[in-house]
Amino acid sequence: MATNLAVSFTGLRFENPFLLASAPPTESESNITRAFDAGWGGVVTKTIGLHPVANVAGPKTKFLRATPESTQLSMKKRPGTALHSSWNWELISDKTLDWWVPRLGRIKKAYPSQVLVASIMAGSGSDSELKAWQTLAKACQDEGADALELNLSCPHMDRPDMGSNIGKDPELVSVVTQAVKEVARVPVWVKLTPSTTDIVVEARGAFLGGADAISSTNTFPSLPLIDPETLEFEMNVDGLVSSGGLGGPAILPQSIAKMAQLTHAFPDHAFSGIGGVAEFGHALNYFLLGCGTVQVCTAAMLDHAIGPNVLKQLLAGMAACMERNGWSSLDDFRGLRRDRVVVHSKIRRPDGEIYRGGYDAEGYAAAEAAAAITGETAR
Ligand SMILES: Cc1cc2nc3c(=O)[nH]c(=O)nc-3n(C[C@H](O)[C@H](O)[C@H](O)COP(=O)(O)O)c2cc1C
Repeated sequence: MATNLAVSFTGLRFENPFLLASAPPTESESNITRAFDAGWGGVVTKTIGLHPVANVAGPKTKFLRATPESTQLSMKKRPGTALHSSWNWELISDKTLDWWVPRLGRIKKAYPSQVLVASIMAGSGSDSELKAWQTLAKACQDEGADALELNLSCPHMDRPDMGSNIGKDPELVSVVTQAVKEVARVPVWVKLTPSTTDIVVEARGAFLGGADAISSTNTFPSLPLIDPETLEFEMNVDGLVSSGGLGGPAILPQSIAKMAQLTHAFPDHAFSGIGGVAEFGHALNYFLLGCGTVQVCTAAMLDHAIGPNVLKQLLAGMAACMERNGWSSLDDFRGLRRDRVVVHSKIRRPDGEIYRGGYDAEGYAAAEAAAAITGETAR
């Protein structure tokens, strides 16, 4: 049986479930057309806003590397290192909606069967800000964008009503999603920040607002390291640094932990997995936890800017894995390991001992109460 890599996600058909995430690989028309030529199933544009932005006076992204024979972690270029993570403090697209509009139209006309998702962002502090979301949404869908991704997750915004500051507030998540849904004729994906106590709470807000899918995660808020010789941050402008985002291999385990929470809480909803994917083995984590698509950023940035070799490996890896396991489509293995993530007390103890989540031992609750929480039989 021929392997079928095509998937249906939020009602859209993708030739394969691999997308370029919103970031430098999707910041221009030429990058996006190159990405479609390479065969990516979809792209999410670099986030589009209404107003121009000005980036910092220095590099916007660098890569932290580990040295196998030592414990050194540094952004300094040196031979024989392995990628640990990307760190960036890049803002949304420095091109405004007017610049994007004709380009979205041209791209969609040239590549009708590949999925073009427009990432958009505005504030949320007033009715006019919510109208800005609607203006962005309408303009992008009118040019043929197949879906919208709401950036509620950028980790370096000063404004308390923008980016990940929206994503940390379930009510704002709901309000913004609902405002976009009022005008959207295409599916609306909501990209959440991992920087919250319980991402399920914000996801619930998004679904209450009408979200068709959740994309998770954006980068993790973080700082570059201090160089022990110069005593300066490895990335800085005039010695100063600010919150930025960590991506790449280092965040894969953390991102799948967030995804496991999400897919467990909402098994019937659609999820696009992001974070640390560079090969099919990584993407498989997201699929087995229940994701219908996977997005890639850091690995693509390091591979000819749009990841042609990364994509080749993802496609070949998926086909080989499906053949090995006798699966004919993603539906045969999506979510297969979702229910293997359980509360700690469900993990077997040696010698039949029962762990009651600390309840009895601490004297806070009777065994019966603990059993009610963990689903164990009280003894
Ligand atoms: C330089 C850079 C710029 C980014 N810009 C955006 C953006 O404009 N909008 C957005 O939603 N995410 C943005 N991201 C986050 C990525 O889309 C992605 O969520 C994150 O990097 C995790 O994926 P990765 O581990 O594959 O890099 C950016 C990431 C990087 C490294």
